[in-house]
Amino acid sequence: MKRIKVSLARRSDRSYEIIIGRDILERACMLVSQRGCSRRMVVIADSNVAGLHGEACVALMCRLGMPAELITFPAGEASKTIDMVLSVSTELLERKVDRSATLVALGGGVTGDLVGFVASIYMRSIPFIQIPTSLIAQVDSSIGGKTGVDFKGGKNLLGSFYQPKDVIIDISWLDTLPEKEFKNGLAEVVKYGIIDDADLFETLEWEASALLERSPGILERVVERCCAIKKGIVEIDEYDLGIRRILNFGHTIGHALEGVSDYRINHGTAVSIGMVAEARIAEKKGCLDRRERERIEALLDSLGLERTIPVDMDTNELLSRIGLDKKRRGGKVPFVLIKKIGVSFINGSVDENLVKETIEELKV
Ligand SMILES: NC(=O)c1ccc[n+]([C@@H]2O[C@H](COP(=O)([O-])OP(=O)(O)OC[C@H]3O[C@@H](n4cnc5c(N)ncnc54)[C@H](O)[C@@H]3O)[C@@H](O)[C@H]2O)c1
Repeated sequence: MKRIKVSLARRSDRSYEIIIGRDILERACMLVSQRGCSRRMVVIADSNVAGLHGEACVALMCRLGMPAELITFPAGEASKTIDMVLSVSTELLERKVDRSATLVALGGGVTGDLVGFVASIYMRSIPFIQIPTSLIAQVDSSIGGKTGVDFKGGKNLLGSFYQPKDVIIDISWLDTLPEKEFKNGLAEVVKYGIIDDADLFETLEWEASALLERSPGILERVVERCCAIKKGIVEIDEYDLGIRRILNFGHTIGHALEGVSDYRINHGTAVSIGMVAEARIAEKKGCLDRRERERIEALLDSLGLERTIPVDMDTNELLSRIGLDKKRRGGKVPFVLIKKIGVSFINGSVDENLVKETIEELKV
Protein backbone atom coordinates (compact mmCIF):
# COMPACT_ATOMS: atom_id res chain seq x y z
CA MET A 1 0.00 0.00 0.00
CA LYS A 2 1.40 3.38 -1.06
CA ARG A 3 0.46 6.75 0.43
CA ILE A 4 0.89 9.99 -1.52
CA LYS A 5 0.26 13.30 0.22
CA VAL A 6 -1.42 16.12 -1.69
CA SER A 7 -0.06 19.24 0.03
CA LEU A 8 -2.10 22.34 -0.63
CA ALA A 9 0.41 24.95 0.45
CA ARG A 10 -0.78 27.62 2.85
CA ARG A 11 -3.98 25.64 3.18
CA SER A 12 -2.80 22.64 5.14
CA ASP A 13 -6.30 21.89 6.40
CA ARG A 14 -7.24 20.95 2.85
CA SER A 15 -4.31 18.60 2.28
CA TYR A 16 -5.17 14.94 2.01
CA GLU A 17 -3.76 11.54 1.22
CA ILE A 18 -4.25 9.33 -1.79
CA ILE A 19 -4.04 5.78 -0.47
CA ILE A 20 -3.27 3.33 -3.29
CA GLY A 21 -2.91 -0.44 -3.46
CA ARG A 22 -4.68 -3.71 -4.10
CA ASP A 23 -7.24 -5.06 -1.63
CA ILE A 24 -6.56 -2.18 0.72
CA LEU A 25 -10.07 -0.96 1.47
CA GLU A 26 -10.17 -2.35 5.00
CA ARG A 27 -6.78 -0.91 6.01
CA ALA A 28 -7.52 2.38 4.29
CA CYS A 29 -10.90 2.68 6.04
CA MET A 30 -9.17 2.07 9.38
CA LEU A 31 -6.82 4.96 8.61
CA VAL A 32 -9.75 7.18 7.67
CA SER A 33 -11.58 6.16 10.81
CA GLN A 34 -8.55 7.05 12.97
CA ARG A 35 -8.78 10.57 11.52
CA GLY A 36 -12.26 10.92 13.00
CA CYS A 37 -14.36 10.39 9.86
CA SER A 38 -16.30 7.63 11.55
CA ARG A 39 -19.46 9.17 12.93
CA ARG A 40 -21.78 8.55 10.00
CA MET A 41 -20.73 7.51 6.51
CA VAL A 42 -23.20 8.04 3.68
CA VAL A 43 -22.01 6.02 0.72
CA ILE A 44 -23.37 7.28 -2.60
CA ALA A 45 -23.00 5.04 -5.65
CA ASP A 46 -24.58 4.67 -9.06
CA SER A 47 -26.91 1.76 -9.82
CA ASN A 48 -24.13 -0.40 -11.32
CA VAL A 49 -21.50 0.11 -8.64
CA ALA A 50 -24.04 -0.06 -5.81
CA GLY A 51 -25.11 -3.50 -7.03
CA LEU A 52 -21.56 -4.78 -7.35
CA HIS A 53 -19.78 -3.20 -4.39
CA GLY A 54 -22.10 -0.89 -2.45
CA GLU A 55 -23.42 -3.30 0.16
CA ALA A 56 -19.97 -4.83 0.73
CA CYS A 57 -18.47 -1.38 1.26
CA VAL A 58 -21.22 -0.38 3.70
CA ALA A 59 -20.90 -3.71 5.57
CA LEU A 60 -17.13 -3.29 5.87
CA MET A 61 -17.45 0.24 7.24
CA CYS A 62 -20.09 -0.85 9.77
CA ARG A 63 -17.81 -3.72 10.85
CA LEU A 64 -15.01 -1.20 11.42
CA GLY A 65 -17.24 0.88 13.67
CA MET A 66 -18.14 3.46 11.03
CA PRO A 67 -21.97 3.47 10.81
CA ALA A 68 -22.68 3.52 7.08
CA GLU A 69 -25.67 3.59 4.74
CA LEU A 70 -26.14 3.56 0.97
CA ILE A 71 -27.83 5.98 -1.43
CA THR A 72 -28.02 5.12 -5.13
CA PHE A 73 -28.77 6.99 -8.35
CA PRO A 74 -29.05 5.84 -11.99
CA ALA A 75 -25.70 5.12 -13.65
CA GLY A 76 -24.42 7.23 -16.53
CA GLU A 77 -23.45 10.74 -17.60
CA ALA A 78 -27.18 11.60 -17.84
CA SER A 79 -27.16 11.69 -14.02
CA LYS A 80 -24.61 14.51 -13.91
CA THR A 81 -27.34 17.13 -13.71
CA ILE A 82 -28.56 19.78 -11.32
CA ASP A 83 -31.78 17.73 -10.95
CA MET A 84 -29.73 14.82 -9.60
CA VAL A 85 -27.94 17.19 -7.22
CA LEU A 86 -31.35 18.20 -5.87
CA SER A 87 -32.56 14.61 -5.74
CA VAL A 88 -29.50 13.40 -3.76
CA SER A 89 -29.73 16.46 -1.47
CA THR A 90 -33.41 15.74 -0.83
CA GLU A 91 -32.54 12.16 0.10
CA LEU A 92 -29.85 13.43 2.49
CA LEU A 93 -32.31 15.83 4.12
CA GLU A 94 -34.96 13.11 4.46
CA ARG A 95 -32.39 10.91 6.19
CA LYS A 96 -31.51 13.83 8.48
CA VAL A 97 -27.88 13.79 7.39
CA ASP A 98 -26.05 16.75 8.91
CA ARG A 99 -22.55 18.19 8.70
CA SER A 100 -21.16 15.70 11.21
CA ALA A 101 -21.55 12.98 8.57
CA THR A 102 -19.11 12.17 5.76
CA LEU A 103 -20.26 11.51 2.20
CA VAL A 104 -18.46 8.75 0.32
CA ALA A 105 -18.33 8.94 -3.48
CA LEU A 106 -18.07 5.27 -4.43
CA GLY A 107 -17.82 4.94 -8.20
CA GLY A 108 -16.59 6.44 -11.43
CA GLY A 109 -16.05 10.03 -12.47
CA VAL A 110 -19.77 10.78 -12.66
CA THR A 111 -20.26 9.75 -9.03
CA GLY A 112 -17.18 11.65 -7.86
CA ASP A 113 -18.16 14.83 -9.71
CA LEU A 114 -21.79 14.67 -8.58
CA VAL A 115 -21.18 13.70 -4.95
CA GLY A 116 -18.29 16.16 -4.66
CA PHE A 117 -20.56 18.95 -5.85
CA VAL A 118 -23.35 17.95 -3.45
CA ALA A 119 -20.77 17.80 -0.63
CA SER A 120 -19.54 21.30 -1.49
CA ILE A 121 -22.99 22.88 -1.19
CA TYR A 122 -25.06 20.67 1.14
CA MET A 123 -25.54 22.66 4.37
CA ARG A 124 -22.75 24.95 3.14
CA SER A 125 -20.41 21.94 2.76
CA ILE A 126 -19.96 18.57 4.33
CA PRO A 127 -16.80 16.41 4.28
CA PHE A 128 -16.49 13.74 1.60
CA ILE A 129 -14.07 11.02 0.61
CA GLN A 130 -13.49 9.53 -2.79
CA ILE A 131 -13.39 5.78 -3.39
CA PRO A 132 -12.94 5.71 -7.18
CA THR A 133 -13.84 2.46 -8.94
CA SER A 134 -13.30 3.24 -12.64
CA LEU A 135 -9.90 3.76 -14.22
CA ILE A 136 -10.75 7.36 -15.19
CA ALA A 137 -11.70 8.10 -11.60
CA GLN A 138 -8.63 6.34 -10.16
CA VAL A 139 -6.11 8.15 -12.34
CA ASP A 140 -7.83 11.48 -12.71
CA SER A 141 -11.24 12.64 -11.50
CA SER A 142 -10.98 11.62 -7.83
CA ILE A 143 -7.92 13.83 -7.30
CA GLY A 144 -7.83 17.59 -7.34
CA GLY A 145 -11.23 18.68 -6.11
CA LYS A 146 -12.98 19.57 -9.38
CA THR A 147 -16.65 18.78 -8.88
CA GLY A 148 -19.68 19.59 -10.97
CA VAL A 149 -22.52 18.71 -13.29
CA ASP A 150 -23.32 19.30 -16.94
CA PHE A 151 -25.65 22.19 -17.76
CA LYS A 152 -27.42 23.51 -20.90
CA GLY A 153 -25.48 21.15 -23.14
CA GLY A 154 -22.08 22.15 -21.74
CA LYS A 155 -19.79 19.84 -19.73
CA ASN A 156 -19.26 20.64 -16.05
CA LEU A 157 -20.69 24.15 -16.41
CA LEU A 158 -21.97 24.17 -12.82
CA GLY A 159 -19.48 23.13 -10.22
CA SER A 160 -16.97 23.99 -7.56
CA PHE A 161 -13.46 23.33 -6.36
CA TYR A 162 -13.87 21.22 -3.26
CA GLN A 163 -11.22 18.83 -2.06
CA PRO A 164 -11.99 15.40 -0.60
CA LYS A 165 -10.73 14.47 2.86
CA ASP A 166 -9.12 11.29 1.50
CA VAL A 167 -8.90 9.32 -1.73
CA ILE A 168 -8.83 5.54 -1.42
CA ILE A 169 -7.73 3.82 -4.63
CA ASP A 170 -8.16 0.08 -4.46
CA ILE A 171 -6.93 -1.34 -7.77
CA SER A 172 -8.95 -4.51 -7.21
CA TRP A 173 -12.18 -2.55 -7.85
CA LEU A 174 -11.09 -2.46 -11.50
CA ASP A 175 -11.58 -6.23 -11.78
CA THR A 176 -15.31 -5.72 -12.39
CA LEU A 177 -14.94 -2.71 -14.68
CA PRO A 178 -16.31 -3.50 -18.18
CA GLU A 179 -13.74 -3.61 -21.00
CA LYS A 180 -15.15 -0.51 -22.69
CA GLU A 181 -14.89 1.55 -19.49
CA PHE A 182 -11.37 0.31 -18.83
CA LYS A 183 -10.29 1.49 -22.29
CA ASN A 184 -11.88 4.86 -21.63
CA GLY A 185 -9.59 5.22 -18.65
CA LEU A 186 -6.57 4.33 -20.75
CA ALA A 187 -7.18 7.50 -22.79
CA GLU A 188 -6.55 9.63 -19.68
CA VAL A 189 -3.48 7.50 -18.86
CA VAL A 190 -2.02 8.17 -22.32
CA LYS A 191 -2.77 11.86 -21.81
CA TYR A 192 -0.47 11.98 -18.76
CA GLY A 193 2.36 10.48 -20.82
CA ILE A 194 1.84 13.00 -23.62
CA ILE A 195 1.57 16.11 -21.47
CA ASP A 196 4.11 15.40 -18.77
CA ASP A 197 6.00 12.13 -18.78
CA ALA A 198 7.83 10.71 -21.80
CA ASP A 199 8.99 7.71 -19.71
CA LEU A 200 5.39 6.83 -18.85
CA PHE A 201 4.51 7.14 -22.56
CA GLU A 202 7.33 4.76 -23.46
CA THR A 203 6.25 2.30 -20.76
CA LEU A 204 2.76 2.36 -22.24
CA GLU A 205 4.20 1.65 -25.71
CA TRP A 206 6.12 -1.37 -24.36
CA GLU A 207 3.43 -2.64 -22.01
CA ALA A 208 0.28 -1.99 -24.07
CA SER A 209 -0.82 -5.63 -24.15
CA ALA A 210 -0.04 -6.28 -20.46
CA LEU A 211 -2.03 -3.18 -19.62
CA LEU A 212 -4.97 -4.31 -21.74
CA GLU A 213 -4.86 -7.61 -19.84
CA ARG A 214 -4.88 -5.58 -16.60
CA SER A 215 -1.73 -7.30 -15.35
CA PRO A 216 -1.53 -6.27 -11.69
CA GLY A 217 2.10 -5.08 -11.59
CA ILE A 218 1.89 -2.73 -14.54
CA LEU A 219 -1.59 -1.52 -13.67
CA GLU A 220 -0.54 -0.51 -10.17
CA ARG A 221 2.62 1.19 -11.45
CA VAL A 222 0.68 3.15 -14.05
CA VAL A 223 -2.15 4.23 -11.71
CA GLU A 224 0.37 5.31 -9.10
CA ARG A 225 2.39 7.30 -11.64
CA CYS A 226 -0.71 9.07 -12.99
CA CYS A 227 -1.79 9.99 -9.45
CA ALA A 228 1.66 11.36 -8.70
CA ILE A 229 1.59 13.52 -11.86
CA LYS A 230 -1.89 14.83 -11.10
CA LYS A 231 -1.09 15.62 -7.48
CA GLY A 232 2.04 17.48 -8.56
CA ILE A 233 0.04 19.65 -10.94
CA VAL A 234 -2.83 20.26 -8.47
CA GLU A 235 -0.41 21.32 -5.76
CA ILE A 236 0.98 24.05 -8.01
CA ASP A 237 -2.35 25.21 -9.44
CA GLU A 238 -5.31 24.11 -7.34
CA TYR A 239 -7.78 26.46 -9.08
CA ASP A 240 -6.96 25.75 -12.70
CA LEU A 241 -5.58 29.19 -13.47
CA GLY A 242 -2.36 28.11 -15.13
CA ILE A 243 -0.45 24.85 -15.44
CA ARG A 244 -3.40 22.66 -14.42
CA ARG A 245 -4.97 23.49 -17.75
CA ILE A 246 -2.49 21.16 -19.48
CA LEU A 247 -4.63 18.35 -18.07
CA ASN A 248 -7.23 19.48 -20.60
CA PHE A 249 -5.14 18.20 -23.50
CA GLY A 250 -7.61 16.48 -25.85
CA HIS A 251 -10.54 17.82 -23.85
CA THR A 252 -11.31 21.04 -25.77
CA ILE A 253 -12.36 19.03 -28.81
CA GLY A 254 -13.25 15.99 -26.64
CA HIS A 255 -15.89 17.83 -24.62
CA ALA A 256 -17.43 19.18 -27.86
CA LEU A 257 -17.65 15.62 -29.24
CA GLU A 258 -19.37 14.44 -26.06
CA GLY A 259 -21.88 17.29 -26.17
CA VAL A 260 -22.72 17.14 -29.87
CA SER A 261 -23.20 13.35 -29.67
CA ASP A 262 -25.52 13.93 -26.70
CA TYR A 263 -23.03 11.90 -24.61
CA ARG A 264 -23.36 8.82 -26.84
CA ILE A 265 -19.60 9.26 -27.33
CA ASN A 266 -18.26 8.64 -23.84
CA HIS A 267 -15.58 10.71 -22.12
CA GLY A 268 -12.60 8.41 -22.77
CA THR A 269 -13.42 7.93 -26.45
CA ALA A 270 -13.95 11.67 -26.87
CA VAL A 271 -10.62 12.44 -25.18
CA SER A 272 -8.83 9.90 -27.38
CA ILE A 273 -10.20 11.49 -30.58
CA GLY A 274 -9.59 14.94 -29.08
CA MET A 275 -5.93 14.09 -28.43
CA VAL A 276 -5.47 12.95 -32.04
CA ALA A 277 -7.05 16.19 -33.27
CA GLU A 278 -5.07 18.42 -30.91
CA ALA A 279 -1.79 16.61 -31.72
CA ARG A 280 -2.49 17.17 -35.42
CA ILE A 281 -3.19 20.84 -34.74
CA ALA A 282 0.16 21.05 -32.92
CA GLU A 283 1.85 19.46 -35.92
CA LYS A 284 0.11 21.81 -38.39
CA LYS A 285 1.23 24.78 -36.30
CA GLY A 286 4.80 23.53 -36.59
CA CYS A 287 5.16 22.77 -32.86
CA LEU A 288 5.19 18.98 -33.02
CA ASP A 289 7.28 16.66 -35.16
CA ARG A 290 5.29 14.33 -37.44
CA ARG A 291 6.96 11.19 -35.98
CA GLU A 292 5.94 12.16 -32.45
CA ARG A 293 2.34 12.68 -33.61
CA GLU A 294 2.43 9.28 -35.32
CA ARG A 295 3.67 7.65 -32.09
CA ILE A 296 0.68 9.12 -30.26
CA GLU A 297 -1.76 7.76 -32.81
CA ALA A 298 -0.01 4.37 -32.87
CA LEU A 299 -0.23 4.05 -29.08
CA LEU A 300 -3.93 4.95 -29.03
CA ASP A 301 -4.44 2.40 -31.80
CA SER A 302 -2.58 -0.36 -29.96
CA LEU A 303 -4.75 0.28 -26.90
CA GLY A 304 -7.86 -0.07 -29.06
CA LEU A 305 -8.86 3.57 -28.63
CA GLU A 306 -10.90 5.53 -31.17
CA ARG A 307 -9.10 8.01 -33.43
CA THR A 308 -11.76 9.16 -35.88
CA ILE A 309 -14.83 11.39 -35.79
CA PRO A 310 -18.16 9.93 -36.95
CA VAL A 311 -18.74 11.14 -40.54
CA ASP A 312 -22.27 12.35 -39.82
CA MET A 313 -21.18 14.67 -37.02
CA ASP A 314 -21.85 18.31 -37.90
CA THR A 315 -18.55 20.21 -38.04
CA ASN A 316 -20.18 23.60 -37.45
CA GLU A 317 -21.97 22.30 -34.39
CA LEU A 318 -18.66 20.97 -33.10
CA LEU A 319 -16.99 24.33 -33.71
CA SER A 320 -19.73 26.15 -31.89
CA ARG A 321 -19.47 23.74 -28.94
CA ILE A 322 -15.75 24.34 -28.82
CA GLY A 323 -16.57 28.04 -28.46
CA LEU A 324 -19.01 27.20 -25.67
CA ASP A 325 -16.29 25.41 -23.77
CA LYS A 326 -16.01 26.96 -20.31
CA LYS A 327 -12.21 27.12 -20.67
CA ARG A 328 -12.80 29.94 -23.17
CA ARG A 329 -10.98 33.11 -22.09
CA GLY A 330 -11.71 36.59 -23.46
CA GLY A 331 -13.28 35.42 -26.72
CA LYS A 332 -10.44 33.03 -27.50
CA VAL A 333 -10.43 29.29 -27.07
CA PRO A 334 -7.17 28.19 -25.49
CA PHE A 335 -5.80 24.85 -26.68
CA VAL A 336 -3.22 22.68 -24.98
CA LEU A 337 -0.55 21.89 -27.54
CA ILE A 338 2.56 19.76 -27.36
CA LYS A 339 6.16 20.43 -28.31
CA LYS A 340 7.14 16.80 -27.98
CA ILE A 341 5.88 13.80 -26.04
CA GLY A 342 6.14 14.77 -22.37
CA VAL A 343 6.21 18.54 -22.98
CA SER A 344 2.98 20.52 -23.32
CA PHE A 345 1.98 24.18 -23.21
CA ILE A 346 -1.15 26.31 -23.36
CA ASN A 347 -1.67 28.15 -26.62
CA GLY A 348 -3.58 31.45 -26.56
CA SER A 349 -5.90 30.38 -29.35
CA VAL A 350 -5.99 28.36 -32.53
CA ASP A 351 -7.35 29.57 -35.86
CA GLU A 352 -10.88 28.26 -36.43
CA ASN A 353 -10.06 27.15 -39.98
CA LEU A 354 -7.22 24.99 -38.70
CA VAL A 355 -9.59 23.31 -36.23
CA LYS A 356 -12.21 22.89 -38.97
CA GLU A 357 -9.71 21.35 -41.39
CA THR A 358 -8.50 18.92 -38.68
CA ILE A 359 -12.04 17.87 -37.76
CA GLU A 360 -12.87 17.19 -41.44
CA GLU A 361 -9.65 15.22 -41.89
CA LEU A 362 -10.55 12.93 -38.98
CA LYS A 363 -13.94 12.03 -40.46
CA VAL A 364 -13.10 8.78 -42.30
N1 LIG B 1 -13.36 16.04 -11.85
C1 LIG B 1 -12.38 15.78 -12.69
O1 LIG B 1 -11.26 16.25 -12.51
C2 LIG B 1 -12.64 14.86 -13.85
C3 LIG B 1 -11.57 14.36 -14.60
C4 LIG B 1 -11.85 13.45 -15.62
C5 LIG B 1 -13.15 13.07 -15.89
N2 LIG B 1 -14.17 13.59 -15.16
C6 LIG B 1 -15.56 13.19 -15.40
O2 LIG B 1 -15.67 11.79 -15.16
C7 LIG B 1 -16.74 11.27 -15.95
C8 LIG B 1 -16.25 10.02 -16.64
O3 LIG B 1 -15.82 9.10 -15.67
P1 LIG B 1 -16.17 7.55 -15.77
O4 LIG B 1 -15.81 7.06 -17.11
O5 LIG B 1 -15.63 6.89 -14.57
O6 LIG B 1 -17.78 7.61 -15.76
P2 LIG B 1 -18.85 6.82 -14.89
O7 LIG B 1 -18.80 7.24 -13.49
O8 LIG B 1 -20.14 6.96 -15.61
O9 LIG B 1 -18.37 5.30 -14.95
C9 LIG B 1 -18.42 4.62 -16.19
C10 LIG B 1 -19.26 3.34 -16.07
O10 LIG B 1 -18.51 2.38 -15.35
C11 LIG B 1 -19.29 1.85 -14.29
N3 LIG B 1 -18.37 1.46 -13.24
C12 LIG B 1 -17.55 2.27 -12.52
N4 LIG B 1 -16.76 1.54 -11.73
C13 LIG B 1 -17.08 0.24 -11.94
C14 LIG B 1 -16.59 -1.00 -11.45
N5 LIG B 1 -15.56 -1.07 -10.60
N6 LIG B 1 -17.18 -2.14 -11.89
C15 LIG B 1 -18.19 -2.10 -12.80
N7 LIG B 1 -18.68 -0.96 -13.32
C16 LIG B 1 -18.11 0.19 -12.90
C17 LIG B 1 -20.26 2.96 -13.95
O11 LIG B 1 -21.40 2.46 -13.32
C18 LIG B 1 -20.58 3.54 -15.33
O12 LIG B 1 -21.56 2.75 -15.96
C19 LIG B 1 -17.15 12.37 -16.90
O13 LIG B 1 -18.33 12.97 -16.46
C20 LIG B 1 -16.00 13.36 -16.82
O14 LIG B 1 -16.41 14.68 -17.09
C21 LIG B 1 -13.94 14.47 -14.15
